[in-house]
Amino acid sequence: MARRDIDFLILGSGVAGLTFALKAAQFGTVAIVTKKVDIESNTNYAQGGIASVFGKDDSFELHIQDTLSTGRGLSKREAVEIMVREGPERIMELVDFGAQFTLHEDGKYFDLGMEGGHSRKRIVHARDYTGNEIERILVKTARNNPNITIYENHIAIDLITEHQLKPETKSGNINCYGAYVYDSNADKVNIFAAKITLLATGGTGQVYLHTTNPNIATGDGLAMAYRAGAMLANLEFMQFHPTTLYHPEAESFLISEAVRGAGAILRNKSGEPFMKKYDERGELAPRDIVAHAIDAELKKTGDECVYLDLSPIGASEIPVKFPQIYKKCLEFKLDITKELIPVVPAAHYMCGGLVTDLQGKTLVENLFACGEVAYTGVHGANRLASNSLLEALVFSHRAALHVTKKIEKIPSPPIIIPPWDDSGTFNAEEWVLISHDRLEIRRLMWDYVGIVRSDFRLSRAERRIKMIHQEVENFYRKRSITEELVELRNLATVALLIVRCAMMRKESRGLHYTTDYPEPDDIRHLHDTIIQESISNLPGVMTNIK
Ligand code: FAD
Ligand code: SIN
Repeated sequence: MARRDIDFLILGSGVAGLTFALKAAQFGTVAIVTKKVDIESNTNYAQGGIASVFGKDDSFELHIQDTLSTGRGLSKREAVEIMVREGPERIMELVDFGAQFTLHEDGKYFDLGMEGGHSRKRIVHARDYTGNEIERILVKTARNNPNITIYENHIAIDLITEHQLKPETKSGNINCYGAYVYDSNADKVNIFAAKITLLATGGTGQVYLHTTNPNIATGDGLAMAYRAGAMLANLEFMQFHPTTLYHPEAESFLISEAVRGAGAILRNKSGEPFMKKYDERGELAPRDIVAHAIDAELKKTGDECVYLDLSPIGASEIPVKFPQIYKKCLEFKLDITKELIPVVPAAHYMCGGLVTDLQGKTLVENLFACGEVAYTGVHGANRLASNSLLEALVFSHRAALHVTKKIEKIPSPPIIIPPWDDSGTFNAEEWVLISHDRLEIRRLMWDYVGIVRSDFRLSRAERRIKMIHQEVENFYRKRSITEELVELRNLATVALLIVRCAMMRKESRGLHYTTDYPEPDDIRHLHDTIIQESISNLPGVMTNIK
């Protein structure tokens, strides 16, 4: 087992981790640990763009109001204000790094797009592959930085806190000293010891059967933080994107909201436009409303999908504006300049997360979090389109600014950190059974904790997932580490935490709709749902030294 000591340990190489890394590298050594190749992340697949105030007819206050209204009363104004006001500077920084966003015909200004819930055009984009452009430029810049080392195919298993150093600890502050990390090429668990650890592990869409998220999005950061005693909030608010390609081999490929922003219309199988029945903003209502409307329409008609009609955009414009979507649909023999796109909703974005302050600081000392894994208070009960990349950029910058000011004063991690003991037993036949659990969890979540919920469905899901969670935990303690096992353990944990948050919210608000309490309840429920393991339970839940 090797031990690496660095100043800053960053878990994840999406927009949040890379942004933080580039800033922190001016003040110390940085290790970026990422579980696949460096570009593989939700960021890399982002299509629509980054929302920010650049338009002449726009204002900070309008963007703030749109975000607050979409958040259904739970977004924190202070956090939203920071994100909106600091956004343009962060986007211009990406341009300085070399990011090429689509410009207006005049070649001077951004070509600003429109998306649901926005009262003005404010989506900065690189055609329909914005995330790939951001990831490309950030990875390139990070690779050229001598203070940054990127460890690909390394998966963080658990955070190192005093509960590993002194398992008898039952009280006091919890400090983070780095992480145990599995190197899947060398099949070894190593210690990454750091003064500061940043969780930038992204989302958790893989907990659902149908999701726009790539395979990496297994909620590892949330599960690790939970096991370390950090505070999580609002996990019931999983955002379902209304429009993903309905095709057996398309793996919920996203059809960007920007397509509706450019004029596309949703129709049911009979060809009728239906969105205006649900909201006067029609196709450009916020996502919770559009996804819910599609779900209601499908239940009413018994159809398997609805359709996006792109004809208002114009056949010649479609491949220019949406080259990725056009090409992908052609792979499935669908010419979207002539045909309607069959679409269904799929799990897309975790609005809740690991609670941080406005500098990315969590309640665990020296542990920070940014990006989709974090809960800054911006998104409340529903995220406004294209605010996610913006939030990640703004708050990872703030976290880096805050932490680099005090890095000199932070003591080095302890000299003795117990090595990983992987003297477990391994029975391949059992593993086959356990590996089926991943699919089972994802199905359960889709069927019982989806767009429409009820007390009955949630308790059924809880009972079943609890059982799987326990089985996986038992198995985890007996078996040597693999990437699949780490992910399965985290998926089971996060699924259970989502169900628990959903059961706590006895109302319908934003992305959480339950037939038992179909209305929002502003008197009793205008607050976050909080999950935090009590310190006295921690050694039991988090022990990873077998
Ligand atoms: P990610 O970009 O997901 O990065 C997480 C990183 O952590 C990855 O490198 C991953 O490999 C790594 N990781 C995870 N677990 C571990 C572990 N245990 N050990 C080591 N590494 C780990 N938002 C917008 O604002 N605009 C859009 O247009 C937009 N379009 C989207 C389209 C799609 C298809 C998807 C899926 C999302 C979209 N989003 C969009 C959401 C947005 O892309 C994400 O919320 C955002 O990119 C998250 O950035 P992040 O840095 O927090 O996480
Ligand atoms: C999209 O392009 O529709 C995704 C935008 C987002 O997730 O904000």
